[in-house]
Amino acid sequence: MADATTATLKINDSEYELPILRPTQGPNVLDIRKLYGQADVFTYDPGFTSTASCDSTITFIDGDKGELWYRGYPIEQLADQSHYLEVCYLLLYGNLPTAEQMDDFERRVTRHTMVHEQMHNFFRGFRRDAHPMATMVGVIGAMSAFYHDSTDINDPWQREVAAIRLIAKMPTIAAMAYKYSIGQPFVYPQNELDYASNFMHMCFSVPAEKYNVDPALARAMDRIFTLHADHEQNASTSTVRLAGSSGANPFACIAAGIACLWGPAHGGANQACLEMLREIGTVDRIPEFIARAKDKSDPFKLMGFGHRVYKNFDPRAKVMKESADEVLDLLGIHDNPTLQVAKELEKIALEDEYFIEKKLYPNVDFYSGIILEAMGFPTSMFTPIFALSRTVGWIAQWKEMIGDPQAKIGRPRQLYVGEDKRDYLDVAAR
Ligand code: SDX
Repeated sequence: MADATTATLKINDSEYELPILRPTQGPNVLDIRKLYGQADVFTYDPGFTSTASCDSTITFIDGDKGELWYRGYPIEQLADQSHYLEVCYLLLYGNLPTAEQMDDFERRVTRHTMVHEQMHNFFRGFRRDAHPMATMVGVIGAMSAFYHDSTDINDPWQREVAAIRLIAKMPTIAAMAYKYSIGQPFVYPQNELDYASNFMHMCFSVPAEKYNVDPALARAMDRIFTLHADHEQNASTSTVRLAGSSGANPFACIAAGIACLWGPAHGGANQACLEMLREIGTVDRIPEFIARAKDKSDPFKLMGFGHRVYKNFDPRAKVMKESADEVLDLLGIHDNPTLQVAKELEKIALEDEYFIEKKLYPNVDFYSGIILEAMGFPTSMFTPIFALSRTVGWIAQWKEMIGDPQAKIGRPRQLYVGEDKRDYLDVAAR
């Protein structure tokens, strides 16, 4: 029998037909847009565990199978055969570029890698010990004060220029945030370097001596960018879409996304995970932390574990785990205690009934910190690197929303459980 095209909702003596929308892949969607108008009821879904906020053509996740596709291409193939700027083109324009299209795109991005010289003064207002994420939220938001010719969201050309500027300048600004936090001078981009090499050069070179980026490490850095590039309607992407739905300029929207990503339940988990692995310290202490993670009276959670969508291995964690072995081997780091704890923790957790029953697996943040620390980044730079990588996903999703003729301002309702209407009481009567 053909699949039903509507669902019937019965409330008291009334029935309401809800259209069923069919995806290319994934669960069917009940269209409830007319429900409030017809039945005078809201749906209730804090955390949006069962709610599709939009339709999208960009990224697909199958949480049960542990699959992730960018524009239909599996993440494993992109991580292995593509590179980040090509993935940026794919996410922004929908298809893999021809050689000419790639050259043109790379040229446009490369020509925007420098920031307005006055932005250097902006950093000087921050305390030296400011977290680089605080700096990035501030500086990216401030870009709308420097680039007035790409803030009009109704002008497709300005939307395009804003997208290119953000992709091109995020590495420069992230590197500046890092340099500022360690008291070293800012390093200008070198346009003959590829995207990942340029970022590493801006982070690790100093005027006093030449710095050559190891191509194998740059390749690993580029792969980390690709693995973090987009991820459907996660919290920070939803933040960018909601901010964009009010007509806010693209720089303000990305600053909102960076702020949301900072939380330890989201992009801040990579920093929290490495700090947790360091706190565990040795393999013999793992049972103590597993017990704490299972103890409902203890707020402790295993950072880098669990996911709202993946109820199987996060495919990005698998690639990241292989990359961790490669990078540490490349750097001659053997018997890294943090990696040993991570691997043993993963093994023990995946054999534990609690984690099996709740389908908790390592996510993208579980191994990334080990690689980044081995490369020389401090933990405070882990989430800025996630933000740098995710900027293209945020921009692609923002452009998709702005270009959607159905787009309207996002404005959820609520289940009001406060006081019923009451009259003001004079203080003498209280
Ligand atoms: C990212 O959404 C995305 O796509 C995000 C992301 C992206 O690319 O944009 O993939 C990036 O943010 C990855 C997630 C990084 N966060 C962490 O590693 C922090 C640790 N993880 C948890 O905080 C948690 O798993 C979340 C926030 C990731 C998911 O939370 P959910 O979906 O709200 O699930 P939940 O908290 O309701 O957990 C379900 C159950 C709960 O137990 P019960 O209340 O049912 O008894 O599992 C438990 C939780 O207590 N649980 C954990 C756990 N994660 C969930 N218990 C111990 N350790 C954990 N890590």
